[in-house]
Amino acid sequence: MSQNKDKICLLAIESSCDDTGAAVIINGKMHSNVVATQKIHQKYGGVVPELASREHLQNIIPVVTEALKEANITTQELSAVAYAQGPGLMGSLMVGSSYARALSSALEVPSIGIDHLKAHVMAHFIDEPKPLFPFICLLVSGGHTQIILVKAYDQMEILGKTHDDAAGEAFDKTAKMMGLPYPGGPLIDKYAQLGNPEAYAFSYAKMPGYDYSFSGFKTAVLYFLRDNKEKDPSFIDKNLNDICASVQRHIVTSLLKNLKKAVRDSGVTQVALAGGVAANSSLRNAFLAMGEENQWETFIPAFEYCTDNAAMIAVAGHFAFLNGDFTGLDEVPYARFGMKV
Ligand code: KG4
Ligand code: ZN
Repeated sequence: MSQNKDKICLLAIESSCDDTGAAVIINGKMHSNVVATQKIHQKYGGVVPELASREHLQNIIPVVTEALKEANITTQELSAVAYAQGPGLMGSLMVGSSYARALSSALEVPSIGIDHLKAHVMAHFIDEPKPLFPFICLLVSGGHTQIILVKAYDQMEILGKTHDDAAGEAFDKTAKMMGLPYPGGPLIDKYAQLGNPEAYAFSYAKMPGYDYSFSGFKTAVLYFLRDNKEKDPSFIDKNLNDICASVQRHIVTSLLKNLKKAVRDSGVTQVALAGGVAANSSLRNAFLAMGEENQWETFIPAFEYCTDNAAMIAVAGHFAFLNGDFTGLDEVPYARFGMKV
């Protein structure tokens, strides 16, 4: 395998859930970042794994072609191919990993399997300002809710995690109960801006350490809506803004309570937010205000790097390449939750 370290040119592929992404990074600078978001799941109210794999199969070649074109390079110039190896939906991961490994094999360049969670954290190293090590990252998306202590790019420790639903799922599933389409998180954000966050209160889960649980909250919202609809069938329509604001307050307060504890206990002062839920306006504002109050230095990547994307796989792949941290062509994806660093 030839590895020209003067020009390090990587193609990266993301296919862990329902976004097919490809990005090109050259000498650590992002040259393209293309994402095809699968719309097919909207009518089912959530991601259907079988349909996600099929869509990845259809999307992957056009998305890669577009990423190479935007970066103005050919596959012959690639130094390596990076891909999301896990965790995620197995059928989805198999499409991206098979494509990436086949391409690297054909080109006789290394392949680099990247942990999807680690990549979300590495999204902070795409643009300026970049956090300094060590920092703490609250990773919140449809699939993940973790508090991660990042000591180095290849040294990350999960301090807290959800025992059931991720924060994004808590948004999406409660939104579905209110009759809102998938993904409901952005709609809750929108309606909440016109509502009273103190209108309704739901009790908080008591979890060990910095861990989270949203299943009890979800059930509480279900019964709350059911009981009120029994009394008044138009309860949701009449109170949608207040319900959204109250649901949002519960999720945001839960997330930041543990983050504050983890940051205080660790003594770390660089604090970052990542994942699709980082788009939530209330979470962003409360996070930034908490940072100011506690003299943290705070970081939130650009939105396109918060949601699932291949640029974050590319930047993690770039560091792995520099370290000679390659993945054997016989290594398979892993669906299970965990973190390979
Ligand atoms: O990172 P992401 O694109 O995909 C996963 O890895 O899951 O995150 C998607 C999640 C969805 O649950 C979506 O509802 C949520 O992020 N989300 C939001 C907002 N924008 C996206 N949740 C609340 N408020 C938002 N503004
Ligand atoms: Zn993700």
